[in-house]
Amino acid sequence: MPTRPDLGIQLGDLKLKNPVLVASGTFGYGQEYAQYFDISRLGAVVTKSLSREPRAGNKPPRLVETPAGLLNAIGLQNVGVEAYIAEKLPFLRERKATVIANIYGKTVDDYTALAERIEAANAADAIEANLSCPNVHDARQARGVTMVSQSPEAILEYTRAIRQATRLPLYAKLTPNVLDIREPALAAEEGGADAVSLINTLLGMAVDAEKRRPRLANIVGGLSGPAIRPVAVKLVWDASQVLRIPIIGIGGICNAEDAVEFLLAGATAVTVGSMTFRQPDAAMRVLDGLEDYMTRHQFQSLDQLIGAMKV
Ligand SMILES: Cc1cc2nc3c(=O)[nH]c(=O)nc-3n(C[C@H](O)[C@H](O)[C@H](O)COP(=O)(O)O)c2cc1C
Repeated sequence: MPTRPDLGIQLGDLKLKNPVLVASGTFGYGQEYAQYFDISRLGAVVTKSLSREPRAGNKPPRLVETPAGLLNAIGLQNVGVEAYIAEKLPFLRERKATVIANIYGKTVDDYTALAERIEAANAADAIEANLSCPNVHDARQARGVTMVSQSPEAILEYTRAIRQATRLPLYAKLTPNVLDIREPALAAEEGGADAVSLINTLLGMAVDAEKRRPRLANIVGGLSGPAIRPVAVKLVWDASQVLRIPIIGIGGICNAEDAVEFLLAGATAVTVGSMTFRQPDAAMRVLDGLEDYMTRHQFQSLDQLIGAMKV
């Protein structure tokens, strides 16, 4: 009998039993999905982005299907950090899920306050700072979108401040909407992030030809799903060439083979996002398939797989 491969990974001070996570905004706070599988089997649950105050999000329509993708402009609808702590966290703890709290704010102070509050309330095992949400500006007014993670200077400032505010492991989630991912990734590393999460959605839009109107009320949205996977794999690869900290790979992962693609390109962890909408237990299938793959290829641990693409 071959021994089972060790799927454990380390992201900063946090040891995860396996590298398969579920993406922020595609898994709520875990409750809806716990009826489909045991959420404690996941490497971690990443929560919907949490802000200091509850947010209603953007006006509908907020979701549009595109070829091999999904365009969303949810606008960070969430219950707010206090309701998360009081009403959502107990369920995640009771189910023994490992929890990464994804946080979002408009200012550095918002992020540091959120990080402090989450640590004080023991409300997560790590923090993912969403520095890359495309859906919180009114496109009519802004005529374009700016995000913290489009500026290496801003990433450095925000990451440093959050790093000082908490001892929890800190992951910086970055946007793919930049010319060269290495600069923002290095800025996050310099700021003290324990990992970078790559990627958030790609900016996109869709127009209804008959109505001659944008399909999203917000006009512009974020593209996710299999359509973005090659972009994400390439950005993970680019970042892995310069970073010392690990990369959490995200973007169109539907099955174990997709996950292996990210690992070979240099990701240490893999995250299932939009695919969960199609198949609620997609992350479990990825996990089981990854274990099969490793057994088949006689890999004892993930170290043998991470960044092992032959070039
Ligand atoms: C409906 C929806 C909501 C999302 N909300 C968030 C969010 O609140 N915070 C965040 O950091 N990312 C959010 N994302 C981005 C995902 O976490 C992920 O980075 C992206 O969808 C790419 O992965 P995928 O192609 O597997 O979906 C959202 C994505 C979708 C589709």
